[in-house]
Amino acid sequence: MGSEGQTERLILRPLEMADARQMQALFPQWEIVRFLLNRVPWPYPPDGALLYCRDIALPQAARGEAWHWTIRLATEPSQMIGLISLFKGAWDNRKFWLGLPWHGLGMMSEACVWANDFWFDNLGFPILRVAKAVSNYPSRRISVKQGMRVVTVVERDYVSGPFQAEVWELTADEWRAWKNRGD
Ligand SMILES: CC(C)(COP(=O)(O)OP(=O)(O)OC[C@H]1O[C@@H](n2cnc3c(N)ncnc32)[C@H](O)[C@@H]1OP(=O)(O)O)[C@@H](O)C(=O)NCCC(=O)NCCS
Repeated sequence: MGSEGQTERLILRPLEMADARQMQALFPQWEIVRFLLNRVPWPYPPDGALLYCRDIALPQAARGEAWHWTIRLATEPSQMIGLISLFKGAWDNRKFWLGLPWHGLGMMSEACVWANDFWFDNLGFPILRVAKAVSNYPSRRISVKQGMRVVTVVERDYVSGPFQAEVWELTADEWRAWKNRGD
């Protein structure tokens, strides 16, 4: 299980079953799901978030395979605004989505700095890899801005269809250098 975290504006709280209700209200939006892998059911069923938390995310966390945090504003901690997750494995080590009202405010960039620190410093993994659709501009920008490199391009099946995906990589040393950069 992950521990609770805090950034300048955000609280990162380990996912619980009780979060399914707010997740169900925020998540099923085309702008959120279109560049997620097509294992996300679409149209999203009314119990989609409950099934995701109960049968997928929380069991992964219990097995020590993944760490999931709801994202909350420090000013309004009772309201979940998104989710960020870390996963063991070769690819897809970090995934995230944010509710539409909070897009474009730098929230996920801020959450990713915290999650990257957790990945490298708390969990001690040497490399973080994430695959993302080339057309997913906001997500791509987060990788560009935070010092990641593209290592390969593959085709993947997203909710909106097959698209080219770039696999981005970041080593622990690169991350520490990025954090100590002087700009
Ligand atoms: C990807 C996502 C989490 C980004 O969250 P966010 O908090 O809005 O991102 P940030 O505000 O930190 O911004 C990241 C970059 O995207 C840009 N951006 C954010 N929303 C944008 C939008 N709607 N249109 C164009 N650019 C956008 C920001 O301007 C920033 O780029 P910049 O530094 O060049 O200005 C959010 O768009 C989302 O939930 N998307 C759907 C789920 C998804 O695709 N997850 C990732 C799968 S790989």
